[in-house]
Parts: sequence; C-alpha cells; structure tokens
Amino acid sequence: MAQRPVEDMDISLLAAPARGGVVDVPGQERLVAKIFRAPCRPDQSEHLRQLIALPHLMGASDRDIVTSGSCWPLAVLTDGDGAVVGCLLPKAPAKFLVDLTAPSGRSVVRYLEIDWLANPDAVLEKRGLPAQSLRSRTEVCRGLAAVAAVLERHGLVYSDWSYSNSFWSSEDCSAYVIDIDGCVPASGPNLHQPGWEDPLTSSGDDADTYVDRYRFALLVARCLTGRRRAEHVMSAVRDGTELDASPDLRDMLLRMLLSPARRERPSIQQLLGVLRASC
Ligand SMILES: Nc1ncnc2c1ncn2[C@@H]1O[C@H](COP(=O)(O)OP(=O)(O)O)[C@@H](O)[C@H]1O
Ligand SMILES: [Mg+2]
Repeated sequence: MAQRPVEDMDISLLAAPARGGVVDVPGQERLVAKIFRAPCRPDQSEHLRQLIALPHLMGASDRDIVTSGSCWPLAVLTDGDGAVVGCLLPKAPAKFLVDLTAPSGRSVVRYLEIDWLANPDAVLEKRGLPAQSLRSRTEVCRGLAAVAAVLERHGLVYSDWSYSNSFWSSEDCSAYVIDIDGCVPASGPNLHQPGWEDPLTSSGDDADTYVDRYRFALLVARCLTGRRRAEHVMSAVRDGTELDASPDLRDMLLRMLLSPARRERPSIQQLLGVLRASC
C-alpha cells in the first residue's frame, strides 16, 4: 500500500532549511525533505501536486511497484508565501546503504548508486563490493524497468536516467529510483548529462518518451555489460560475449539504442517483458 497522503508542510518546520539539498525531517525518521534550488513556477507546482496524487489513482500493482521501488513524492513543502519550495519523500531504505572502501582505504557508508553496477567486477571487488553475475545484473535492471514502465504507462517523462538517480542493493538485487519529483507529463526539459545524449534528439528539443527509451536502454546496457563509454557499451552489446546468454535482450537493446528513427525505438514496457524472460 502507498503511504497515505501527507499534508503540505511549511519549510520553517525543518531544523535547517537550505536552498537545494535533501535533509532529514525532525521526528520523522522515514521521511526526508528535498529542497529545490528555486521555488516552483505555478505550472511546476501543479505538476508536482498531480504527481503526488497519482499513486492513489493507480491500480494496486503499479502503486506497489512505485512504493517499493522509488521515492515517489508524498507532499509539497511551502514557504511563508505559500510558494512550493520542495517536497517530502520517503527515505530510501537502509538496504540500499553500503560500506564502500574509499581509494584511501577508509570505509564510508553511503547509498549504493547504480553508477557502481556500470563497472566490471574487478572494479567492484576493489571497492569491497561483490562481483555481479549477468543474472544479478539482470535482476537489478528488472527492478529499474518495472518503475520506468509505470512512468511510461502514466505518460510521464523522466528524462534524467543516469548514474546517480537510482540505488541498488547487492544483497537482494533490488533497485530504487530517486528524483521522481522531476517527472513531467508528456514532454519537458531535456536534462543534459555528459555521456547520456540521445543522438537523434537535438539538444534544444524537449525530452519525450522516445528520449526516455534511449537513455533507459543505455542505462540498462551499461549495467548489464559493466562498460561505461557509450561506444564501448554499443560494441559490447553488438559484438561482445556478455549478453550471449540473453540474445533477445541483446536484440531489444540494439533496437532501442540504434534504431534509425526515434519513433521506432521499442517501449520500456517491451524491454521489461524481455528482461522478465531473461536469465
Ligand atoms: N529518498 C531519499 N532518501 C535518502 N536520500 C535521498 C533521497 N532522495 C535523494 N537523496 C539524496 O540526495 C541526493 C540528490 O537527490 P536527487 O533527488 O537526485 O537530487 P537532484 O534533483 O539534485 O539531482 C541523492 O544522491 C541522495 O544522496
Ligand atoms: Mg538527481
């Protein structure tokens, strides 16, 4: 079940209000407050409120997917003038925290970003993380794709699929998508992260579901192959041995990444279907 709707909260109730950042909420150990860099415009506030309401209008199965697999926003944060300046989010579960060995040899506890899965086993092991089989990599990608397919089904564009916006657990291979508050209906700002550029969408155009298809497929391909540079990922998917055990998955990713026309890219739902049928 989704958490019950939470009332708007005045930002002055937070111990340390700051512009931009994610902070704890006093007395609420299962919540965090995300404070935006700038107050929302009225249209952005309206989108955010619609996003907050959406899980309560979804079917139970979609709602369960986003409740366990994402920090879907629960309420808006307002300032003294009533402007929306942030939102309340469920705190990412502790199973996504990990003890990482820093290059200095020191150990640091932090959320395990999906970034780490996009590495070969040798890199993981050097930082104290277990090597990941194709089976476990595929399982993490199934979790990500389940959330991404719910967004797609509800006409939302995420745009910001990248290394830092999801966590994963090497214990149970589950995944957790963050930064959901940036989702927009149908199309919206094309968020430019180096290495995630869609070759068929010019940088001035808004992101839409076809951009999401490309970026999401690139994220999955990086996690499955442990390669990072786009050209290395493409050649690993096309010619490498990593995906030999999952030929349908290889074909689906190639269609999403290399279709000559944006609109020919298969949907994230189709990718999810193939991930579910893979090892
Ligand atoms: N639900 C959450 N629980 C715990 N920490 C979070 C949560 N959401 C975000 N964070 C922390 O805040 C950081 C930035 O969050 P994000 O939503 O990606 O912000 P931005 O919009 O600035 O990219 C994350 O990397 C993580 O460390
Ligand atoms: Mg982010």
